[in-house]
Amino acid sequence: MKILVVGGGGREHAIIKKLKENPQVETVYAVPGNGGIAEDAVCMPEIGAKELDRIVAFAKEQSVDFVVVAPDDPLALGCVDKLHEAGIPCFGPDAKAARIESSKVFSKNLMKKYGIPTAKYEIFSDPAKALDYLKTADYPIVIKADGLALGKGVLIPTSYEEAVDAIRSIMEDKVFGASGNTVVIEEFLTGPEVSVLAFTDGTAIAPMVSSMDHKRAGDGDTGLNTGGMGTVAPNPYYTEDIAKVCMKEIFLPTLAAMREEGCPFKGCLYFGLMLTPNGPKVIEYNCRFGDPETQVVLPLLKTDLLTVMQAVENETLSELNVEWHEGAAACVILASGGYPGSYAKGKEITIPALPQDVICYHAGDKLEGRTLVTSGGRVLGITATAATLGQALEKAYAAAETVQFEGKYMRHDIGRRALAVLGEK
Ligand code: AMP
Ligand code: GLY
Repeated sequence: MKILVVGGGGREHAIIKKLKENPQVETVYAVPGNGGIAEDAVCMPEIGAKELDRIVAFAKEQSVDFVVVAPDDPLALGCVDKLHEAGIPCFGPDAKAARIESSKVFSKNLMKKYGIPTAKYEIFSDPAKALDYLKTADYPIVIKADGLALGKGVLIPTSYEEAVDAIRSIMEDKVFGASGNTVVIEEFLTGPEVSVLAFTDGTAIAPMVSSMDHKRAGDGDTGLNTGGMGTVAPNPYYTEDIAKVCMKEIFLPTLAAMREEGCPFKGCLYFGLMLTPNGPKVIEYNCRFGDPETQVVLPLLKTDLLTVMQAVENETLSELNVEWHEGAAACVILASGGYPGSYAKGKEITIPALPQDVICYHAGDKLEGRTLVTSGGRVLGITATAATLGQALEKAYAAAETVQFEGKYMRHDIGRRALAVLGEK
């Protein structure tokens, strides 16, 4: 079989490596892919992940049997709709279902209408009204730009004055572009965060192993928000009892709500949850695999990934028993110094032979001739699996030390909180 994966980061590399475990998979194409993915797939750097017509034409030319659309942008633009129009089977939600991520207003209204637990909120398209509301609000408060803002459209001002600045910069100065025409202002929630990715065909759901992201740039959860500096799975806060509550109060009601709204969700639905003192609540939905959650979740998947994805596409997921390996996984991101601010590119990367159970996922690199050089903020994700989280972290960090490029930056406390919860350290 020939498979095409749309995207070019660490998440896509993890999807590609997993798909290749199926002996029926002969060729994987990646659009655009990256320097390291080129070891596992035929990369098409000249085609962008948002160039839908070129993606469909390429899939047709190469007689691709199945397409996986991983990033949010092509999903929101309707990549899956176009592939289906061309008769090409694929994995991912259509544009209408992808609104669950691409419009915060859509997802917040969905949760309110169907009684799915989330932070209380108000929606504003008029900056004057938003500013008025802030006068009587409690702080800290959470302000979110409505549209996709590359994961950066959330501000948490701690005072009225900061909140006024936030509204002015989002709605008047448009720091997040048109995404800021409408904002959601919501209640600040507290509690541990859990990421739960789930396969769903619209009706049946198979939640994946839970995970914990580390979004801030610095140790001790300090510094700026990033795309994610490391992950562990499973997330020790997410007990079986909490999983049952989430299934009943959040997962199944969300799927039913999407069907009811005429946009059943098929693909990977990502539940960003906060375990508040009043029970689990949805912080956000994503219409796709998380990055770098995928890098710790997929290595623990026992069932063949392509089989699961085909069951989602064919709406036969209820007939499949999706199984997981015991044990734990940890991923440490190696970033370019300066990220998420400005950083240097083009630094040569050297990766020695890695031990068994350690995988290097490539996120932001490219080939210059035969030399692998850095080309993005998050460069590599070093994932290790082991019987315990402590062992997985030890292996991932030991391997992360051996990889070299100028300016390499990583957090040194990935998984520390999870270990404390487990009582491992
Ligand atoms: P998001 O882009 O929606 O994932 O938000 C980014 C981060 O902001 C989340 O991972 C949370 O840590 C934080 N956040 C978002 N919404 C809330 C909320 N209502 N209360 C507290 N923290 C929040
Ligand atoms: N790691 C968070 C995300 O993928 O949105």
